[in-house]
Amino acid sequence: RVSMENGVFFDDFKLSKQDLDNVDRVFIVACGTAYHAGLMGKTLIERMAKIPVEVDIASEFRYRNPLVTEKSLVIIVSQSGETADTLAALRDCNRIGARTLAITNVVGSTISREANDVIYTMAGPEIAVASTKAYTTQVVVMHLLALYFGRIKGTLEETEEKEIVRALLILPDRIEKLLEEKENIEGIARLLAKEEDLFFLGRGMDYALALEGSLKLKEISYIHCEAYAGGELKHGTIALIEPGTKVIGLFTQGDLKDKMVSNMVEVKARGANIIGLGYHGEELDKSVFDYEIRIPQISDIVAPVLAVVALQLLAYYTAKEKGCDIDKPRNLAKSVTVE
Ligand code: G6P
Repeated sequence: RVSMENGVFFDDFKLSKQDLDNVDRVFIVACGTAYHAGLMGKTLIERMAKIPVEVDIASEFRYRNPLVTEKSLVIIVSQSGETADTLAALRDCNRIGARTLAITNVVGSTISREANDVIYTMAGPEIAVASTKAYTTQVVVMHLLALYFGRIKGTLEETEEKEIVRALLILPDRIEKLLEEKENIEGIARLLAKEEDLFFLGRGMDYALALEGSLKLKEISYIHCEAYAGGELKHGTIALIEPGTKVIGLFTQGDLKDKMVSNMVEVKARGANIIGLGYHGEELDKSVFDYEIRIPQISDIVAPVLAVVALQLLAYYTAKEKGCDIDKPRNLAKSVTVE
């Protein structure tokens, strides 16, 4: 679906410039991990296509009378294509006459059949309850859509488009390289497994990434985790930081790095131990960071797709250390077909 020569192309989905000019707002609606992929989509589509995007949890969207009209494009994200709240939201939007687009993994699922258009994530069957490859493919589809819209609307500089396409094409190679970090991540996971509370902090796309990293860790290791936007912690939650509290700080967004470092200094001053996730070869101040997780260099806008693999591994090894059933965590279902 993507090449250096032609940019992005979808076989199964087409929008003309006229269709897109008619769209005044995009809504992204989903549950759980798919919602977190939607948050990435908002940043990407707004940045590349300059269209305002709202992201909603499906069970909230349904009952808040959202301002969906015939000029809305509603993107429904669902691995299974069967989640009850997400499906109900889709049906509401179809009734209103909005243009609906499903991003789903399951061919022939109800959501894929009822949306006006569908883009399959093609992640292959995902057996474990906690979503991993479904998430990464959803986020990559968000990059593709944003590139596609940006090209049609003429809002994306050619140099930026090429940089993002190049980064997407090298992602598989960079993920392979990231796996070399496995043992380090496993060592850090052994420390985390002893904790009762953990915090993830990030800014911009790293905030969306923090939410997903935190969800993955809590759902499979049963450790209470919270994700905060770097600048928000001080508005209350910093009261929970005690000597020895473990805080995972995410550093894939270069333009926000200095601000994030200040946030880390704030928690460090309250005695937190800090695990910093950043690029190989980039300085993380030793006086602030106690542990490091390194990811290979890649363009910042694509980096969260790479970094999430490190966070998925962190959750995996922490759950393994605790002897949890990683593929089938308690109380969870892969597909939630009731409200
Ligand atoms: C369940 C799963 C989650 C998933 C969510 C949405 O809660 O345990 O992993 O993110 O449903 O599922 P969907 O199939 O709509 O993406």
